[in-house]
Order: sequence, then C-alpha cells, then structure tokens
Amino acid sequence: MRLDYLTIFPDYLAPLQLSLPGKAVASGLLDVHVHDLRRWTHDRHRTVDDTPYGGGAGMVLKPEPFGEALDELLGDGAEGVTVVVTTPSGEPFTQELARELATRDRLVFACGRYEGIDQRVLDHARTTAEVREVSIGDYVLNGGEVAALAITEAVVRLLPGFMGNAQSLVEESHEGGLLEHPVYTKPASWRGHEVPPVLLSGDHGAIARWRRDQAVRRTVERRPDLLPASAVTGDWTIERAVRADAAEILTLQLACWVREAIANDDLSIPPLHEDLETVTASLADWDTSVVRVGGRLVGSVRGRLDGDVWDIGRLMVAPDLRGRGLGRLLLEHVQAAAPAGAATYRLFTGKDSADNLRMYKKAGFRVREVLDGRSGPAVLTKRISGR
Ligand SMILES: C[S@@+](CC[C@H](N)C(=O)[O-])C[C@H]1O[C@@H](n2cnc3c(N)ncnc32)[C@H](O)[C@@H]1O
Repeated sequence: MRLDYLTIFPDYLAPLQLSLPGKAVASGLLDVHVHDLRRWTHDRHRTVDDTPYGGGAGMVLKPEPFGEALDELLGDGAEGVTVVVTTPSGEPFTQELARELATRDRLVFACGRYEGIDQRVLDHARTTAEVREVSIGDYVLNGGEVAALAITEAVVRLLPGFMGNAQSLVEESHEGGLLEHPVYTKPASWRGHEVPPVLLSGDHGAIARWRRDQAVRRTVERRPDLLPASAVTGDWTIERAVRADAAEILTLQLACWVREAIANDDLSIPPLHEDLETVTASLADWDTSVVRVGGRLVGSVRGRLDGDVWDIGRLMVAPDLRGRGLGRLLLEHVQAAAPAGAATYRLFTGKDSADNLRMYKKAGFRVREVLDGRSGPAVLTKRISGR
C-alpha cells in the first residue's frame, strides 16, 4: 500500500518510520511519502494560509498549494486511491472504516491546521478520487497529523502480512462487536491480585465462556451503545429505571404478559395482576433497567440478589420489536449486572412459553424444575462462569 501525507509539519510524521509501520516500510509492504505542503507555494514567504471569507477568528489553509499537490500526487488516474481529510467534523473513524481503507491501493492524507482546509480543495478532489473526511473523536486537536498517524496505524495493521499472528486481529475489541475481555500473563499471583482461576483450569470451553461473559460485561458497562447493532435501530439508551418509568413499565408488562397468558392458557400469572403501586415499589427492591428508542420505552429487565443467586425477572420487549435481538441484549445486560457475590443466575418463565425457553436455553440456561401450576412456571438456572 502506498501512503502519502500532505502536511506543513513533516517532522510530526517521523514516527511513521518507527515500530511496526517502520518494519513494514523496510520490508516493502508499505511505501510511505511525507510531503511538505510548502513545496507547492510560489511566494517568498511560502504562504499556506489566509484569513477566512465571512470573517471570524483564525486562518484557513489556502486552496492553491493543496490543489497543486493533489494534482501532482493523483495525476490523471486515481483508481484505488482514497484522499483522507482529517477533520473533527468528519465521519467517525471506526474499526469498520479501518477495514474499508485497508482494501485501498493508496491513501493520501490531507492534514489540516488552523481552522481547516478551504472546502473547494475537497470538492475538487472529489472529481477525480474518493474523498473521506474523517474524525478520530469528538475533540479538537491542533492539527491533522496525530489523526493521520492514528488512522494509519489502525489501517496498516490490518494489511495481510503486517501482523505476525493474524489471529490476534480477530480477537480484539471492536472486531466481534464487543470490547475485549481483560488479559493476564505470568505470574499467577502478583501483589495480592490473582489471575481468575478459570484461566488456569485448562478447560478451554470454560475459558471461552468466561472471556465472552467478561467481554459482554465490559461492553455493557463501558460502551452499551455498541451492543445492539442488530437489535434496534435509531437512537437508543439503556438505563437504570426510575420511579417516573413505572407507568410505562406497567403498560409494557401488561402487553407482554397477555401473550404469555395465552401461550400458557393461564390468566392468573402475577405480572398481569400488578398495579402501578406494585410496579413502583418493585423499583426499590430490584435493579431494573429500561431500554428507550427515540424516547419510547421498548424493553425492560430486572435483577435481585437472593443469597448467592442473581434472580432475573420481568424481561420484556415491545411486541413490534421482537425478533431483533433486544431480548438477548437485555438478558446479557442483566447477567453482566450480577454483583460479585452471585454464583448462579435464576429466572422463571411459563412452561409453555416456547420463544422464551428457546432464548434462555441458547444463552446457557437449563430448566431445573417446573413448579406446580397451570403455567408452571419453569425454573431455569445457569452457573456464573469463573465463580
Ligand atoms: C484546530 S483544528 C480545526 C478545527 C475546526 N475549526 C473545526 O472546528 O472543525 C485543525 C486541524 O486539526 C485536525 N483535527 C482536529 N481535531 C481532529 C479530530 N478530532 N479528528 C481529525 N482531525 C482533527 C484537522 O485536520 C483540522 O483541520
């Protein structure tokens, strides 16, 4: 892959010769060219900036030097070339975009400074090449060089042959839609902190389950926005329920448990008979979470510790959003919320609630017993891995 950088501070990009990109340059995998934008100026002061039209603070990078530089670098044929313009108002840089850029033959980075680059540079470049305006985060840097370095590093490590062990790419944060589980190395005990015993067990199935649980737990705690990529569309939040949510929870509960009552031919099931006071009071006893999409309450679940058992209940999803993974998301969320003292998850569902039973079994729950009653209920449990 060929990489070009247009900057007024070429020295800023010296780290490109270090570490892994440096090795890739030496081995010929990468062909790196850093260009001083002032090479394309023609006045005595090698001017690259000017005051903004319309007034305002700061300076703007002039179109002519960038325009001439891109003419020279892109030439006539810009097939397979992407011009990456670093800007805080660009599309967010993600692992997905890194994967996409890694498929290109050549990337030309335009590093901004001051108030940015004259917009016409981008508009004109779009007539010959693909142009992506990219932001590395919701904060403002002084210049685009650091952003270009970050993008470069994320892209080139995806190039075939760049990483010694390609498997390590697969296991990373953001690759499976989850953050990575915590990692440990020797010694097993360090300053009173122990490596989780399951990692020393040699039981590969248990280790895989523990890692998956940890990844889900971390993602739920730190980046819940990553979880439901397939579950819901639009702006959504998952938050701890407050008293003001009680009326909506009750409404959703009634809608959901009518279905359960029909499936189990049992109108006596408790969730159908609760009133607003009961639901409001339950919020003090249970750790309840609610999912909202565009402000609307579309899902809920709750958990409560009973000895060393984490009781899970009232998992509900709005009827029009069923089948999109939202129930699974809520189940993962409530499991991840189990406190340190919990050793087992437990939940109840109607013995004839086929969809629920299928989802719970898929998530590793097993039916322990079916209680006496028209609808059962069935009691399902699951051991919390690593505990
Ligand atoms: C001070 S910033 C310009 C900010 C600009 N006035 C704005 O508010 O969008 C100067 C340059 O730093 C780079 N830059 C700053 N923050 C960035 C970010 N979050 N991602 C990518 N590039 C960034 C861009 O190249 C930008 O042109």
